[in-house]
Amino acid sequence: MNMKKITKAVFPVAGFGSRFLPATKASPKEMMPIVDKPLIQYAVEEAVAAGITDMIFITGRNKRSIEDHFDKAYEVEAELSAKGKLDLLRTVQEVVPKHVNCIYIRQHEALGLGHAVLCAQPIVQNEPFAVILADDLIDAEISVTQQMVAVYEHYQSSILGVQDVPRAQTNQYGIVSSKQLEANIEEVNDIIEKPKPADAPSTLAVVGRYILTPRIFHYLEQIRAGAGGEIQLTDGIAALMKEERLLAYRFSGTRYDCGSKLGYLKATVAFGLMHPDLRDDFSAYLKAL
Ligand code: UTP
Repeated sequence: MNMKKITKAVFPVAGFGSRFLPATKASPKEMMPIVDKPLIQYAVEEAVAAGITDMIFITGRNKRSIEDHFDKAYEVEAELSAKGKLDLLRTVQEVVPKHVNCIYIRQHEALGLGHAVLCAQPIVQNEPFAVILADDLIDAEISVTQQMVAVYEHYQSSILGVQDVPRAQTNQYGIVSSKQLEANIEEVNDIIEKPKPADAPSTLAVVGRYILTPRIFHYLEQIRAGAGGEIQLTDGIAALMKEERLLAYRFSGTRYDCGSKLGYLKATVAFGLMHPDLRDDFSAYLKAL
């Protein structure tokens, strides 16, 4: 079979970020730092670890800080170099490896995640691709996108990253109904957006990691605005599932929902405790609280 390698990742960063106002008034929530790196950089590093070379950002208003972050910063570099701060200089220069391309597409109106993904079609064209939501930060030994690319290479199907959530929280997620294929892999037969706990077919929730075949664009073009007046990615995936096999993959890793304030604080504590320069002092501080 003519297997297409996954070389492209789509990063939708055009959301309104209303839960973090006023922090997100003038800059995207994906630029909020966890310790010393913005969320979007963790997401790009995850894609780079999976062998992905084309990073496609779907931006909205306030896109400049993201473009600047992944661009060369002449003034900062000159300043650090003149002051002999070579470690920091390297940190700034290594934000993105040289072989990686960053591509920016503007989503003119925030019409929903499904619409944001559809905006990537002119670049993705007829290839399978990854979608990474940077506000779901996942700490994993092996990059979750790398784990999912490996599953794709075996099955050649679209894949949803999933995780069990407490039943009381099913109304915050897309929930799948599925049949087990392997230890961590399920075949999905239904996906329901934000069901009430009593109506949820399972507690297996879709989080912000997807591998999709390009056929998804066909469905995203057709769907009308669903829940909340937005074009939902879940609706497109539900339509795709009727034509192609859809898998759910229980990834290995700890996920932090950095789109919520509590999740963001938990991630800050966890990453602070893992940070080589900070962990001893920070841990002592937390113990003393
Ligand atoms: P969310 O549902 O978290 O929405 O979007 P949001 O607007 O970012 O945040 P809140 O709920 O108002 O606080 C999920 C992902 O989809 C992107 C967001 O940037 C986020 O990564 N998105 C959402 C878009 O790129 N475009 C859209 O039209 C909607």
